[in-house]
Amino acid sequence: MKVIIRQPVSDAEFKAYYDLRWRVLRKPWDMPVGSERDDGDASASHFMAVIEHGKIVGAGRLHFNSAIEGQIRYMAVDEAYQKMSIGRKLITTMEAHALDRGARKIILNARDYAVEFYRLLGYKIVEKTYILFDSIQHYMMEKQLTHE
Ligand SMILES: CC(C)(COP(=O)(O)OP(=O)(O)OC[C@H]1O[C@@H](n2cnc3c(N)ncnc32)[C@H](O)[C@@H]1OP(=O)(O)O)[C@@H](O)C(=O)NCCC(=O)NCCS
Repeated sequence: MKVIIRQPVSDAEFKAYYDLRWRVLRKPWDMPVGSERDDGDASASHFMAVIEHGKIVGAGRLHFNSAIEGQIRYMAVDEAYQKMSIGRKLITTMEAHALDRGARKIILNARDYAVEFYRLLGYKIVEKTYILFDSIQHYMMEKQLTHE
């Protein structure tokens, strides 16, 4: 399966991108449409995984907390396409994008069941952070970025 990682450009692509975020990260907890967005979206960089016929099956967002610290949020891969290296491709692309723009490290808040995914990609737990929807423990993780 050919997978392309790129930034959404059209209104239709952004609509599909946010819809994927909602379906994967909010709908299972009965959260309303709109809860998948926040004020940081306007200035963040958005990435999506596209397969045949322009179908969007993965999403991730990168923003900067400072000149050297990037943060990844809203990682979501369509359930039918998980464990096919799409999440890995999204993270790798966002790391390269952040490094090119001066980031020296990436931080993120991982859901407990996603910690192992990030660990495999080189992230280390910094601390236990918040609980979302009264049930999902999060862990702040970080990774130092280096030019090869
Ligand atoms: C977590 C998520 C983004 C991973 O994306 P993915 O495309 O399924 O992951 P990949 O196929 O790129 O996996 C890369 C590696 O991590 C492993 N992995 C992926 N998800 C994992 C998980 N939840 N637990 C343990 N290992 C996992 C894969 O097996 C693979 O390992 P390998 O290199 O040994 O083969 C995706 O499963 C998802 O959207 N989950 C639901 C929403 C979510 O939890 N988002 C993250 C919020 S912080």
